[in-house]
Amino acid sequence: MKIFECESCNDVWIKLQVAETMNCCQNELHQVKENMDPEVIETHTPIIKKMGDFIYVEVNKEHPMLDVHHLELIIIETNHGVHVKKLFSQNLIKAQFILTEGEVIINIYVYCNVHHLIKITDINLS
Ligand SMILES: [Fe+2]
Repeated sequence: MKIFECESCNDVWIKLQVAETMNCCQNELHQVKENMDPEVIETHTPIIKKMGDFIYVEVNKEHPMLDVHHLELIIIETNHGVHVKKLFSQNLIKAQFILTEGEVIINIYVYCNVHHLIKITDINLS
């Protein structure tokens, strides 16, 4: 899985398979690099709870959910595939996912319109 963003229209693209280059607004898209700043990772790490096969993700209250700065996507990569939830500023700060039997979380990412892609390194399922 690779994440791309358009610098012109700010659209975010999730590419699940290897393919040729991608274009948007007549520009070639560049893969988004993970933001490795520890402070950014800390303020963007959501609260993640697992209850049975349900995964509940709540945006960190320290992170704004305003039009100018908000989390746009929560992405859960598992051994079975990819789950994506689109968040809307000032609207939804929680997301729910359902895992299938034998499905195990490999990575969790959040995408912020200001800080871009953050890989959650401390997955603490409570
Ligand atoms: Fe942010």
